[in-house]
Amino acid sequence: MTIALPKGRIASEVLDIFRKIFNEDFEFENRKLILKKAGFTFLNVRNWDVATYVEKQAADIGVVGLDVITELKSDVLELLDLGLGKCRVSIGGIKGDESYKSKIQIKVASKLANIAKEYFSKKGIPAEVIKLNGSIELAPLVGLSDVIVDIVETGNTLRENGLEEKEVILYSSARLIANKNSFLTKKTEILDLVEKIRKVHGA
Ligand code: PRP
Repeated sequence: MTIALPKGRIASEVLDIFRKIFNEDFEFENRKLILKKAGFTFLNVRNWDVATYVEKQAADIGVVGLDVITELKSDVLELLDLGLGKCRVSIGGIKGDESYKSKIQIKVASKLANIAKEYFSKKGIPAEVIKLNGSIELAPLVGLSDVIVDIVETGNTLRENGLEEKEVILYSSARLIANKNSFLTKKTEILDLVEKIRKVHGA
C-alpha cells in the first residue's frame, strides 16, 4: 500500500503513529522521498500535492488537511479525522475596522481562492478574490485588499500585523483520505490499517 504524507510536522506525527502500531522506527532518511517499510511505501510530498497523488492513484491513501481538500475539491474518500494540524480558515481584517461589511464589492486576498469565492457567493456578497501564494496578511496593510481569507492556527501572525480574526469559515484538521479505486481493490487492507490507527491514536 502506498501512502502520501505531507512533508514536515504532520508526516512525522503520522510516522510516529506507525511506530506505535508496528513497534518499529518509521523515518524518511535524509533527503529521500520514499520510505519502504512493513509492506508500506511512504511518499514524502508537499502538503498541497497529497490529494493529487491520491486522486490520480499514485498513492492509495494519504494524509491532508480538510482546508486543502476543500480548496482543491479533491475527488477522494475521507476515512478518518486524525485530529492533527488543527487550524481554521478565517476572514481576517484590520483590527477594529468593520468598513468591509458596507462595501458594495469586497476585495479579498487569499491563497484559498475557491473557499473564499464560495463563501462570499453563498452569502450573496460581491467579492473580487485576489489569489496570492503566501504572506497573505500583508495585503490589507498595503491596500491590496479589504480583508483576507487565510489559515489561522495560533492567531499570532494576524495579531503581530495589527489584524484580527473576523469570522471562521471552516474548522480544519488532517484527514486520512483514500483513492476511490484503491478503496475498492484494497478495502480489507485499508480498513485494517484504519482500525489499527484508531486503536493507537484514538481518532
Ligand atoms: C500560515 C498562514 C498564516 C499563518 C497562521 O502561513 O497562511 O500566515 O500560517 O499561523 P498562526 O495563526 O499560528 O500565526 P505559512 O506559515 O504557511 O506561510 P505563508 O504565509 O507563506 O503561507
